[in-house]
Amino acid sequence: MIRVFDDLESLSQAAAGLFVDAARRAVVEHGRFSVALAGGSTPRRCYELLSRLPFCDQVPWGQVHVFWGDERCVPADDSRSNSRMARQALLDHVPLPARQIHPMTCVADPVAAALNYQQELKDFFATGKACFDLIFLGLGGDGHTASLFPGTAALDETLRWVTTVHKPGEDFHRLTMTAPLINRAALVIFLVAGADKALILRKVLESSDRDQPLPARLISPEPGRLVWLVDRAAGCGTTNSEPRDQL
Ligand code: 6PG
Repeated sequence: MIRVFDDLESLSQAAAGLFVDAARRAVVEHGRFSVALAGGSTPRRCYELLSRLPFCDQVPWGQVHVFWGDERCVPADDSRSNSRMARQALLDHVPLPARQIHPMTCVADPVAAALNYQQELKDFFATGKACFDLIFLGLGGDGHTASLFPGTAALDETLRWVTTVHKPGEDFHRLTMTAPLINRAALVIFLVAGADKALILRKVLESSDRDQPLPARLISPEPGRLVWLVDRAAGCGTTNSEPRDQL
């Protein structure tokens, strides 16, 4: 399902609304809400909206558990940290118990950190549904999502839930959830905005080029739902986007 919005603001409003709906539904259905946040810049406005009225009062924060889909292995106060962005935009401003915030910490030993985070997820999901209620994802210009970059072994992972990635040219490693874990989610929402994403978005949504396995095309939750929230600048080239409507 693709929803096209006039701009990032209206896209972010819709994403915040879906977060609230998913959280309330999950708490009613199984007493808690598990969400994995995306990094990058696009989701920031959605996170800011969730930290303010009217959205912040609609979320059952006491039953929310926050994880990350990926993280750069940098100090928590580093400007490149995905958890730092989420804390500044959202988590430092809402009554979410600290024990329910599960950052990926991987500065020292990424391989051990990946195993530790995977164990933390296994422990969390040991009781009840072994899947996230909601996962936010972004889309990179090369078709990556989370830290599943083209040409990396992470794309071939079929068993592990979390793995390490080194993106060529970066002086840090990354941790990322793998496609098998992401695809277990009840709801996966891509947030894509900006004209610079128009070409890659069209390739991901419409290309049948088997020789070019774009990582974002690995994301196909089953039986969960996949929703693309895109702004008009990014979605102008897609042919199967539905007209903007109320979510
Ligand atoms: C990361 C992100 C990454 C991001 C995309 C889109 O850690 O780099 O998780 O997957 O979502 O690169 O980033 P923008 O939203 O900044 O375009």
